[in-house]
Amino acid sequence: MQAIDALLERRSAKTLTDPAPDAGALELLLECASRAPDHGRLRPWRFIVISGAARDRLGELMADQLRRQQPGASAESLQRERQKALRAPLIVVVAAVCDAAAKIPAIEQVLAAGAAAQNVMLAAPALGFGAMWKTGAAAYDDTVKAALGLASTDAIVGFLYLGTPTADAVPPPARGRWQDRVSYWGEGWQLKA
Ligand SMILES: Cc1cc2nc3c(=O)[nH]c(=O)nc-3n(C[C@H](O)[C@H](O)[C@H](O)COP(=O)(O)O)c2cc1C
Repeated sequence: MQAIDALLERRSAKTLTDPAPDAGALELLLECASRAPDHGRLRPWRFIVISGAARDRLGELMADQLRRQQPGASAESLQRERQKALRAPLIVVVAAVCDAAAKIPAIEQVLAAGAAAQNVMLAAPALGFGAMWKTGAAAYDDTVKAALGLASTDAIVGFLYLGTPTADAVPPPARGRWQDRVSYWGEGWQLKA
């Protein structure tokens, strides 16, 4: 797949199933992730790989987060939350371990981890897999972070769900005109209107 096609055609998977990326594919995905731009060579990204029955434990963590946030949450809502972790056979939690003592601002460390996550989002389809990037309240919850071995000062930038797409490809959501989001500081550009 050409790099430009991969960018222009990127879209989130709608539903995912087995097979998940195998060890070789996952190694490649994480190698790609680790090529992300990285100010100060801090390597702020961390990858927590979750599959099989461990997904049930993640689902329980997510449901527990909802129960704490909304003590009146219905049994259905809690079950829906548990099921989220089963959306795909493989989950890679991408986190940023921010070094507060570093000269590089924390936001740049989080951005580097986000770029690592995006590399996975682009590499997965190139290997024939589908991917979804989700966060939700659980990503910002200190108890969830602690259970995953992270500190409250770390950031979960995404739960990346990986597997084989089951649904036929659907057109990606309209993004609007990029032209409406560009301004020109200076002169000389002739871009299409
Ligand atoms: C940091 C981040 C967090 C996201 N979290 C969620 C989420 O929790 N739930 C969701 O439905 N979409 C979430 N999205 C958006 C989807 O991943 C997806 O990009 C969006 O639905 C548009 O579809 P597309 O990727 O096919 O263009 C998130 C995207 C980013 C970058």
